[in-house]
Amino acid sequence: MVKKKACVFISGAGSNLKALIKRSREYSFPINISCVISSTKKASGLSFAKIYKIPYYILNLDNQLNIESILIKLKEDNISLICLAGYMRILEKNFLDRFKGKIINIHPSLLPKYKGLNTFKRILKTKEKITGCTVHYVNKKLDTGRKILQKKIFITPNDNEKTLKYRVQQVEHKAYAEAIIRIYN
Ligand code: GRF
Repeated sequence: MVKKKACVFISGAGSNLKALIKRSREYSFPINISCVISSTKKASGLSFAKIYKIPYYILNLDNQLNIESILIKLKEDNISLICLAGYMRILEKNFLDRFKGKIINIHPSLLPKYKGLNTFKRILKTKEKITGCTVHYVNKKLDTGRKILQKKIFITPNDNEKTLKYRVQQVEHKAYAEAIIRIYN
């Protein structure tokens, strides 16, 4: 099976990156993760790139030369899918233009509900009974692109921000891989 090449963008812990790397090592999974890009060298998720020996780059959005050189690398590597996984910066316009329709993101709510940050806090405050995650295409407007897949969980009266985040992330790790399979099927 010829796999497509993908790049994962992170800014933090990288639990979705780790889950995707593991799935991508399965023979029939449609993508290989060829590189990881982080918006900061402090992202602890970079440890997964190191452990699994995947090249990684730090993206400095304040430096146009750095942006260009990363765009060239992605082109040279023949990257056909960009997966944002906890990438906490607004993606530079050049990426959106050059990878139109090929950038996806995972968001910890059932979009269109709870776009943006502090999702779990807001969800608990409004006493929602159900939440979940959404994998969607990325466009110029934050968290509005076409949905690929959603997964739901029930919120229990005992949930707090920490437990809810943990439980949503457990389903995210499955949802992201399923969404990628759906894209290539
Ligand atoms: C995930 O919950 C994702 O929904 C959001 O950022 C979080 C990243 O977590 N966009 P991790 O870095 O993958 O652990």
